[in-house]
Amino acid sequence: MKKAVYPGSFDPITNGHLDIIERAAKLFGEVIVAVIHNPEKRPFFSFKERAAMIKQALPHCPNVTVDSFDGLLVDYVRRQKAGAIVRGLRAVSDFDYEFQMALTNRRMAPEIETVFLMTDYRYSYLSSSFVKQIAHRGGDISGLVPPPVALKLKSGKKGAK
Ligand code: PNS
Repeated sequence: MKKAVYPGSFDPITNGHLDIIERAAKLFGEVIVAVIHNPEKRPFFSFKERAAMIKQALPHCPNVTVDSFDGLLVDYVRRQKAGAIVRGLRAVSDFDYEFQMALTNRRMAPEIETVFLMTDYRYSYLSSSFVKQIAHRGGDISGLVPPPVALKLKSGKKGAK
């Protein structure tokens, strides 16, 4: 399969996401990291900030691009003419939600396969929400997110949406 989409909120990207992207980039000819752009939701980082942080973390993956989507994921995947959706699986707790999402997407688009990559054990507990909680309370987030993301979280600054 040539092209895959790795969708998510990425609020912000963590080293766990990065690990999945790097591994997907070895499996597929092209990987699109698709950041959901949902104006109704209120992410901590704006869409522009989230996309910029992902791009900054990926200079070593020439076959990876960063894009945005709203609406149905399967419609976006079809527009991109991609054959697969990549998702990372951390613990058993992820399974219910991911299973439901994969089956829902398959019902709408049977030609699109969802491919799960098991997280690296180093990141099995890691989530964007916990990283934000730790950073806001002055904890150490080095090793959990790419260094520019850590800086941005520590500075607590927010750019324009
Ligand atoms: O990083 P996240 O928040 O777990 O990503 C979830 C995401 C963006 C992949 C999911 O919410 C999604 O695909 N949203 C688009 C709407 C959609 O297609 N819904 C139907 C399938 S559940």
